Amino acid sequence: MSRIAALIVAGGKGERSGAAVPKQFRPVLGQTMLRRSVAAFALPEIGTIQVVVAKERWAETDAVLAGLNILPLAEGGVTRQESVRNGLEALEQHAPAYVLIHDAARPLVSQSVIRWVIAALEDGAGAAVPVLPVADSLKRKEGDTWTSVSREGLFRAQTPQGFRYGNILAAHRNFRATRVTDDMGIAELAGIAIATVEGEQANLKITTKDDFRHAERLMRGTMDEFRTGQGFDAHRFTSGDHVWLCGIKIAHDAALEGHSDADAGLHALTDAILGVLGAGDIGHHFPPTEEKWRDASSSLFLAYAAQQLAQAGGAIVHCDVTLICEWPKIAPHYDAMRARIAEILKVDVSRVSVKATTTEGMGFLGRGEGLAAQAVATVRLPPA
Ligand code: CTP
Ligand code: MG
Repeated sequence: MSRIAALIVAGGKGERSGAAVPKQFRPVLGQTMLRRSVAAFALPEIGTIQVVVAKERWAETDAVLAGLNILPLAEGGVTRQESVRNGLEALEQHAPAYVLIHDAARPLVSQSVIRWVIAALEDGAGAAVPVLPVADSLKRKEGDTWTSVSREGLFRAQTPQGFRYGNILAAHRNFRATRVTDDMGIAELAGIAIATVEGEQANLKITTKDDFRHAERLMRGTMDEFRTGQGFDAHRFTSGDHVWLCGIKIAHDAALEGHSDADAGLHALTDAILGVLGAGDIGHHFPPTEEKWRDASSSLFLAYAAQQLAQAGGAIVHCDVTLICEWPKIAPHYDAMRARIAEILKVDVSRVSVKATTTEGMGFLGRGEGLAAQAVATVRLPPA
């Protein structure tokens, strides 16, 4: 077992959020705050996760945290301080060297902050606390009188707060009668030396209804967006002895007419990728009027589109090509085609699909006058 335990306290009622359900059981962008906060600590460095919840919510918590590797729940207390103490007591049998105590109300905690706290402890700190300087002007209200308070030397303390396990357990036991709002407060009482690390604005403690909206805005801002592009191409058959399709040379009793190698599959896919970028079409980038593209391998066009996508910070999630023709038969070449496209796009072959169909003898494709292809590309891009 790793020497580091995480203790997530979720025993509160969330009264200031104004909702009937405690805030940690409410969703933030579709997933409960509690699950997000616990999942943030599922890191290789952390050996044990102890969650503290009011007993009447244990059944609900089991469902919310299903699939996460955590210890049996510990019982919530009347105050946060009592909830933390209960969690520390529950951890005693596991005897971790360090414990990171975290509020379930901070679901946006980053791996960076967690790792900074761990690093400070491993550097020998008795306690490690993420802090941020206060930026707003501070005012105290007494009765109807307002007084300005200097923010000089004032900081906001966040969680996770890290401690040597034995020290913080002893301190919580000794100072159970003194009210504090966080565990750094207990460490101060016990005379434990405190080191600070940089906190993060995004590591906000969700308290009010407005905080939920703010947290969701922050989370959306860091999420990639998905886009879909589509492409279509058709080429006429002419005399010849092979065709190029999806980057594979196939022997055939005809060839495809075109300025380049007339690979309709790669052309459709190139257009689909250019489509997600709003970057025009293949003819715009590789004009058929330009001599240098005569008989060019269409793999160049597809590689170019993939490079444009990469430059925009994007990545292929999946692409799907459908070839439409009576002849040649495509199925024997599926695997080779998928492998070649994956190679050009530098993605795993599982992200590429190639299929084929006929038009049952109908229309220009059915009469064998030519061959067509359509493609769909799904990509992930950073938010615009
Ligand atoms: N907490 C706890 N046990 C308590 C009170 C609070 O474990 N008896 C936890 C909360 O669930 C939360 C963290 O301590 O994750 C910080 O508390 P706070 O943000 O104040 O949450 P609540 O007490 O639930 O909210 P409120 O004060 O608005 O009622
Ligand atoms: Mg509270």
